[in-house]
Amino acid sequence: MTNLPADFLWGAATAAYQIEGAVREGGRGASIWDTFSHTWGHVKGGDTGDVACDHYHRSREDVALMRALGLDAYRFSIAWPRIQPEGRGRANEAGLAFYDRLVDELLGAGIQPWATLFHWDLPQALEDAGGWMNRDTAHRFEEYAFIVGERLADRVIGFMTLNEPVIVFLLGHIFGNHAPGKRLGLAGFPVAHHQLLGHGLAARALREAGARRISLANNYAPAWPASDREADERAAARMDAWHNWLFTDPLLKGEYPAAVTELLSERVPGALEVVQPGDLGIIAAPLDFLGVNYYQPDWVRADRFSPFGGHGGSVPGREKTGFGWSVVPEGLTQTLTGLKERYGDACPPLYVTESGCSYPDRVDETGRVRDEARIRYHEAHLEAVWEAMNQGADVRGYFAWSLLDNFEWAEGYSQRFGLVHVDFETLTRTPKDSYFWLQEYLRGRG
Ligand code: NOJ
Repeated sequence: MTNLPADFLWGAATAAYQIEGAVREGGRGASIWDTFSHTWGHVKGGDTGDVACDHYHRSREDVALMRALGLDAYRFSIAWPRIQPEGRGRANEAGLAFYDRLVDELLGAGIQPWATLFHWDLPQALEDAGGWMNRDTAHRFEEYAFIVGERLADRVIGFMTLNEPVIVFLLGHIFGNHAPGKRLGLAGFPVAHHQLLGHGLAARALREAGARRISLANNYAPAWPASDREADERAAARMDAWHNWLFTDPLLKGEYPAAVTELLSERVPGALEVVQPGDLGIIAAPLDFLGVNYYQPDWVRADRFSPFGGHGGSVPGREKTGFGWSVVPEGLTQTLTGLKERYGDACPPLYVTESGCSYPDRVDETGRVRDEARIRYHEAHLEAVWEAMNQGADVRGYFAWSLLDNFEWAEGYSQRFGLVHVDFETLTRTPKDSYFWLQEYLRGRG
């Protein structure tokens, strides 16, 4: 860590639905996560984002925590249904004003604002019109991006259009354990294409509105075959294409991976017709950087009942987080160097836009949260970043997931990823030992 260059950017990340609460305030419309979390059986413990960390009312306190921590940058997301309650048309001034204030508070604290436009909270009205299966959603996203750009591009340093489109595709539309809870199988391919098209259109709109650094945050999970059996190796190669390259090849090479188009042509004839002439050109417009979210590799076994011919799991024999996810820092090195290898000079500078771990942290009798495992986790993953840089990857920054414990989607409040503990009864924030560890490091940077 001490070797990282002086201009390496240090940040923490959050997302609107996971922290804001105030879901019926400031003219906000409903999102698919309101609907999904309020439907019985979808989220552990029946938890919802109705209150979450109440960040909507406590942003000043949260920015003060970031300032005291010494962060260079903060990655947050903008709730589309606060800006366009119905997902289209006129902007809602109260929504824009909330983020406008947040951006000014951050700048006032010397922290760079980095904003994501879509971190999974699609306006319910757009879902009712077909959601990401409907090509029109990409055009609605373009319209929303322009509104946000016009208001914030003069002050937001980095924009990310989409967050982890692969998870929206896989968990939201293939396996159904995230909103909108669809189980479409490979026939859900339009969800992938329309998100990519939406990215391209939104990136163009942001640029027109004056934004200068534009990208998206992708999730990467190196696919490791569970054995050297040919079936597992074949399944891993396929999962690799669908998880890691489906949302990167079109951006950086202007084409879909062959493993994706082959499987589609075999199983869902006609699926590729959603890719219209000109789409790939829009999608492949140059990126100023690439956001990399990394948690763990996928340990892949062949499975003929899976749409991809395999299923992933955690890596055996490795330390596990509270979620049961395996701690594999070298998977991050592999991801970062792998991007460089696959795309060469077409690979833009990389930022780790998420890295983190959950543990059942609690405030002890002395008021401390002793999360040594999280400190070790971040140290090891920063080491892994440094290793990748030594192997030629151009990595410019690292955002810890997350600043605050928050609403972990289908897991509700049961998984705590924060550098700051949140008591979800009283909403009290308590910086954890990992917060003080990072604070000390950032002070020492001079
Ligand atoms: C990635 C997602 O972007 C974020 O919303 C989520 O909380 C973390 N992974 C942890 O699962």
